[in-house]
Amino acid sequence: MTHQHNEAPETAVRPTDWWRDAVIYQIYPRSFADGNGDGMGDLPGIRGRLAHLRDLGVDAVWLSPFYASPQADAGYDVADYRAVDPLFGTLADAEAVIREAHDQGLRIIIDIVPNHCSDQHAWFRRAVAEGPGSVLRERFHFRKGRGDNGELPPSDWESVFGGPAWTRLPDGEWYLHLFAPEQPDFNWDHPAVQDEFRSILRFWLDLGVDGFRVDVAHGMVKAPGLPDIGHGEQARLIGSQILPFFDQDGVHAVYRSWRAILDEYPGQRIGVAEAWAPTLDRLARYVRPDELHQGFNFHYLGTDWDAGALRAAVDASLSALGAVGAPATWVLSNHDVVRHRTRLGGGLDRARAATLLMLALPGSAYLYQGEELGLPEVTDLPAEVRQDPSFFRDSGQDGLRDGCRVPLPWSGTEPPYGFGAGDTWLPQPDDWATLTVQAQTGDPASTLELYRSALGLRRTHPGLGAGDTVEWLDDAPDGVLAFRRPGGLVCTVNTTDAPARLSVPGRPLLTSGRQLPLLDGDFILPADTTIWWEE
Ligand code: GLC
Repeated sequence: MTHQHNEAPETAVRPTDWWRDAVIYQIYPRSFADGNGDGMGDLPGIRGRLAHLRDLGVDAVWLSPFYASPQADAGYDVADYRAVDPLFGTLADAEAVIREAHDQGLRIIIDIVPNHCSDQHAWFRRAVAEGPGSVLRERFHFRKGRGDNGELPPSDWESVFGGPAWTRLPDGEWYLHLFAPEQPDFNWDHPAVQDEFRSILRFWLDLGVDGFRVDVAHGMVKAPGLPDIGHGEQARLIGSQILPFFDQDGVHAVYRSWRAILDEYPGQRIGVAEAWAPTLDRLARYVRPDELHQGFNFHYLGTDWDAGALRAAVDASLSALGAVGAPATWVLSNHDVVRHRTRLGGGLDRARAATLLMLALPGSAYLYQGEELGLPEVTDLPAEVRQDPSFFRDSGQDGLRDGCRVPLPWSGTEPPYGFGAGDTWLPQPDDWATLTVQAQTGDPASTLELYRSALGLRRTHPGLGAGDTVEWLDDAPDGVLAFRRPGGLVCTVNTTDAPARLSVPGRPLLTSGRQLPLLDGDFILPADTTIWWEE
């Protein structure tokens, strides 16, 4: 075989890149499984349930934060990036999860939170204790206030969780926090901050993690001078335009330096950007060949259940990400949004159809724990059990983030459904007995078995996630998506609430809904149903 050196563009797809078509399962540690019976999920709980993930057939796991943290934002307020919070276990437990996941053929990606830390982080505590003039204050954004007595915030920036992004200390200075006041923002112009995070990456890479999900990857670098925006309701602008604190061009230098570190390690360690960029083209900048590997596709997550809109979102994603040689990614649910069974407005049928559509698209797909059980959003949590900081602030996010974080049901007929022992940190509904892993296992009509079958087929038919294009079949009726994937796979999706009639594309492989008899070369695709076919 002749080797053609220098022929492939820098962005050429290497079929050995495991992450290009990986299915990555998000574990929210507080709510996955409780090993010590305190009602809060933990690392030993995860360890005990790795077989579930292996049987499900995912390629990798992303763990939301388990670092030492006062839990002002469920662990996204990190006090020590090299320590495990006792709530979740020990560093030895983390190492055991990594090792045993690898033994089961699962890769492990952990969350890294570089935009901000906890107000209990050693640097911030010293910065506060040492008072104005402390050199530690330079690692954050401390400013004097405006107004005659410095009584007004230094800029008009608002917190993503609502209210001002500045808090004043008793000594008169203000500090910046784009999220909760317990989450002070780092000053990423400071070399000590840059060095510290490079060192933290190495610490975890040395322990064997396969990559990082980068929290608020569009944050970190702020516009020089922290200029006013001059516009209220900034939370609404996030993701639709460039703000002086989000999606600043300077952030890409950080990712270039991180990529060099990832590439030093064997086994293709990856970085995944949680970047709320205003356009897909801006998102693509985070996944250029010398930056991170993937970025979450929130444009897709935000697309309505509408054939035209979905097709446009798929095409736009493939084109923007393909232009930089990165795989597209797809996601329907995570710990910050309403579960897709509830959000898409069509109940379980629509959720299942949406999942099979997603899993037939080229690229990598992210699953959120519990979606394989068809869990709905819990919408009736009383205010006294709520923990999401955005719920308690006066505006900003909708405060619904607790409803997707309710602990998983594993077995049994009443709470805690095998999650652990005693009361769970958020109460589970009384009617989840039929949704447990145990109840669904072996039932071919269950959502769990649908996910297992779909992920099994992704392994035996690699064409399902392969490549970077979709071949649309244009003879589909209105409201129906039909497309061909490599290897002769065809996916048909009915997004309408009425059955549609199509010609049979081949042998049915898997359906999200009812399988109806074929009629004379045609078939009926029920409402809110996806079917995979083999030509
Ligand atoms: C990200 C996380 C979210 C967290 C926020 C602040 O958006 O996904 O849960 O509250 O960052 O760290």
